[in-house]
Amino acid sequence: MMAFSTPAAVLITVVLLFRGGSSTPESGNSNGLPKSDVDLLEFPLNLEYLEAEFFSWAALGRGLDSLAPNLAMGGPSPIGVQKANLSPEIRDIIIQFALQEFGHLRAIQRTFPGFPRPLMDLSKTSFASIMNNAFGEALVSEFDPYANDINYLIASYVLPYVGLTGYVGATPKLHSPIAKMLVGGLLGMESGQDAVVRTLLYQRVFMKVWPYNYTVAEFTDKISNLRNNLGMNGVKDEGLIVTPEQGAEGIISGNILAGNNDSLSYPRTPEEILRIVYGTGNESVPGLFYPKGANGEIAKSYLSH
Ligand SMILES: *[C@@H]1O[C@H](CO)[C@@H](O)[C@H](O)[C@H]1NC(C)=O
Ligand SMILES: *[C@@H]1O[C@H](CO)[C@@H](O)[C@H](O)[C@H]1NC(C)=O
Ligand SMILES: *[C@@H]1O[C@H](CO)[C@@H](O)[C@H](O)[C@H]1NC(C)=O
Repeated sequence: MMAFSTPAAVLITVVLLFRGGSSTPESGNSNGLPKSDVDLLEFPLNLEYLEAEFFSWAALGRGLDSLAPNLAMGGPSPIGVQKANLSPEIRDIIIQFALQEFGHLRAIQRTFPGFPRPLMDLSKTSFASIMNNAFGEALVSEFDPYANDINYLIASYVLPYVGLTGYVGATPKLHSPIAKMLVGGLLGMESGQDAVVRTLLYQRVFMKVWPYNYTVAEFTDKISNLRNNLGMNGVKDEGLIVTPEQGAEGIISGNILAGNNDSLSYPRTPEEILRIVYGTGNESVPGLFYPKGANGEIAKSYLSH
């Protein structure tokens, strides 16, 4: 798969040149945008940083620090993230996801002042703890997100969907056309990533995830239930196989995309998202992926007490 390193390196050079050539006029460029728009659209930087590092490290064995250091804005390096043992097919897709995330970071930072990458814990232990919480038991063997394709895809099931619901939730609160345009573009891509992950998992939906006695369907169901419980605002998350009542038009069990009774994407608030990504069910109590809390005005407003 060495063929990837050349186009990737070219692309990344372009990214750096572009950043370098325009960083001064961009920084602090939130003139004319309402403060609430700035806060709402800076918040997702937290998730975009997480996805950028998770995808980039898994596929390429390195992250923002070596590939696009400017985008980290001086924030600390992530803990425990590593290269995953992926097949060429899945690795190809994840490289594309990683580069897409670099673009998302750049787009948000170009439009708003932005904030540095928060401290993130993407270690096996973080993911193992999600899985243990999801199943309500210590799994027979600690879940390793980086072990193989299926584990990595299940771990990826955890990420873009949360971003997607956040963008849907932000939409009605935005005022400026610039912010609406950006959120539309980000939502489209996050939904696409989520759909790709879900499709790849759906193709393996009744496969047992070795060495566990649980199928892919059961993993997605348990993870979605955990997110619903942590979010504490009803059902906004659905696994790949549901009861027919929960499927599209209330009549089908296959659930390749998650949606409400009208098959519209569910919205989540920043508070709900913090409860989930902290793994604590409390936006004031950091943990899991963000051991010191997320960055930006919204997240910090809950950390100050
Ligand atoms: C595995 O799960 C199936 C159904 O979920 C159950 O019938 C079976 O007893 C389980 N096997 C073991 C070894 O736990
Ligand atoms: C969605 O449909 C289910 C099953 O028909 C029903 O129980 C639930 O109340 C509906 N939810 C909403 C928000 O209408
Ligand atoms: C969340 O954590 C804060 C700080 O520890 C605490 O004051 C608050 O009661 C908690 N909220 C809930 C719903 O548990």
